[in-house]
Amino acid sequence: MSDAKKLAAEKAIDYVQDGMIVGVGTGSTVAYFIDALAAWKDRIAGAVSSSEQSTARLQAHGIEVIDLNAAGPLALYVDGADECDGHKRLIKGGGAALTREKIIAEASARFVCIIDPSKQVDVLGRFPLPVEVIPMARSLVAREILRMTGGQPVWRDGVITDNGNVILDVHNLSITDPVAMERELNQIPGVVSVGLFARRPADVVIVGGQPPRVL
Ligand code: 5RP
Repeated sequence: MSDAKKLAAEKAIDYVQDGMIVGVGTGSTVAYFIDALAAWKDRIAGAVSSSEQSTARLQAHGIEVIDLNAAGPLALYVDGADECDGHKRLIKGGGAALTREKIIAEASARFVCIIDPSKQVDVLGRFPLPVEVIPMARSLVAREILRMTGGQPVWRDGVITDNGNVILDVHNLSITDPVAMERELNQIPGVVSVGLFARRPADVVIVGGQPPRVL
């Protein structure tokens, strides 16, 4: 799959333009994108990063990392996903960076999602849905998620997000209405963000292959 990830990531460079501040996601597919973006470092104004991990890789390539508050609205955000349905709605957060990813996606005019073919699904939910939670609310939120969805929340033990929070991965979901589930889970006190990107889906999906497919 790493070849497919690399091919998708390199195709996303087609969307980068001179002078841009590029929004950059997190994960192994995005790592290939950052490596490809290095060739553009003197042509772009910099990048807004969604994680400490991506920040380190961007800076290692000499790409300036800019705070989102200073950057303002972005023209382009490039990120991976754990699942993608036929409406370009996503599950994200396998790398625990979902909250910052969602903020940058919201701030961006165009969200280009880069995936390998294994991420394409008819119905979201085979991949356990990540939910970022304030630590003291972990048990409360887990009980509420079980009651509301019937899914089984599992604490991602040992993982602390860049925001100092914890992750619950919700197993055994079949998400037939992702917009409604995103809205409802967001209402639980203690939930910071839900790894469903349905209200703001991707605009373009690039599926890695020879050649890459642009959806
Ligand atoms: C991180 C994410 C990633 O985009 C997602 O986990 C995909 O990762 P990878 O490109 O390594 O398969 O949402 O929070």
